[in-house]
Amino acid sequence: CKTWRSNPLRSFMLFLLKVKNSTGNKPVAPLGSRILTNPNDIYKHNMWDHVQWTEEDTEFARLKTEENSSERVPLNEQVIFDRDADKMWEKFYEMHHNKFFKNRKWLFAEFPELLPLGQSRTTQPTSRLSLEKHQDNIQPASYPGEYATFRILEVGCGVGNSVFPILKTIKGTDAFVYCCDFSLKAIELVKAHPDYDTSMCHSFVHDICEEAAPFPFPLRSVDAILAVFVLSSIHPERMQGVVNRLSTYLKHGGIFLFRDYGRYDLSQLRFKKGRCLSENFYSRGDGTCVYYFTKEEVHNLFTNAGLEEIQNLEDRRLQVNRGKKVVMRRVWVQSKFRKT
Ligand SMILES: C[S@@+](CC[C@H](N)C(=O)[O-])C[C@H]1O[C@@H](n2cnc3c(N)ncnc32)[C@H](O)[C@@H]1O
Ligand SMILES: *[C@@H]1O[C@H](CO)[C@@H](O)[C@H](O)[C@H]1NC(C)=O
Repeated sequence: CKTWRSNPLRSFMLFLLKVKNSTGNKPVAPLGSRILTNPNDIYKHNMWDHVQWTEEDTEFARLKTEENSSERVPLNEQVIFDRDADKMWEKFYEMHHNKFFKNRKWLFAEFPELLPLGQSRTTQPTSRLSLEKHQDNIQPASYPGEYATFRILEVGCGVGNSVFPILKTIKGTDAFVYCCDFSLKAIELVKAHPDYDTSMCHSFVHDICEEAAPFPFPLRSVDAILAVFVLSSIHPERMQGVVNRLSTYLKHGGIFLFRDYGRYDLSQLRFKKGRCLSENFYSRGDGTCVYYFTKEEVHNLFTNAGLEEIQNLEDRRLQVNRGKKVVMRRVWVQSKFRKT
């Protein structure tokens, strides 16, 4: 019974059955619409969207996860993953430079909120007075991007895989991008990029877990905050504090855009014994950490910070390695929350 349960062939056959049964019931397709309707087509594309999971699929993933998460990293050894998180990521960028992450091509299709619609160079800059009126702590008298009418903050920007596509798009508008990461190397690479332009962008080293560290702009001055594959690398106990604090920098009506790893993504199932730190939180071989979210957790995280849900969905896909004839189930959570 055990071998049949964990038999990948069984899992695949169940999947084919499910695909066959679900053809009359196509989901709406906000995240791309490559829907697998004929199982024979599976190796025709690299990725299939909106893959439905049956209860059995979820149960299979849960058991697989349980199998290797039962053995935890001892608590006294866990300390370094949180304390030295910046050093781990520093090493990561020393090693990979800008070769690891790809540009985020889906960015504007999924997050059109990043586009400063109707904001041209002719619009009036935000009045300094109206900003000052709202400030309740000491802020820099003059700061980068202070005359912009639309401000984006990307946290954990890495080497700028989102920043540079954004800069390209907002050129000629009155928008401005702030981006930070706690890796010095990553920020160096952002600044050395040929498209880095200080008239549109300010990048700086900043640890979003560091509660006392100020941002170089006032509270309630940001229109959009972007966090892609960043909150997952933070200790689950710190996440709420981080989201609360970041939200104080959003203007009223400003939006928080989030995309990250989802519960039972293939990469979670593949963790070997002894890498689990706590429920759904793991350390990778290189010392960086990763958490796998459910959309319910994401909902709570952002609504607890006083934001209102605009979108919150699980993006489930099949990633196909056509060469090796391997099918992989991927799960991401994508969400938008507004400050009212
Ligand atoms: C998986 S990478 C994603 C990078 C980038 N957002 C992208 O999508 O390509 C996670 C990034 O978050 C950064 N990071 C993790 N914890 C952070 C923290 N506490 N403060 C600032 N940056 C952090 C890491 O240095 C790394 O660049
Ligand atoms: C679980 O861990 C064992 C031992 O580290 C490994 O051999 C096995 O492949 C792992 N299982 C999965 C699903 O990755």
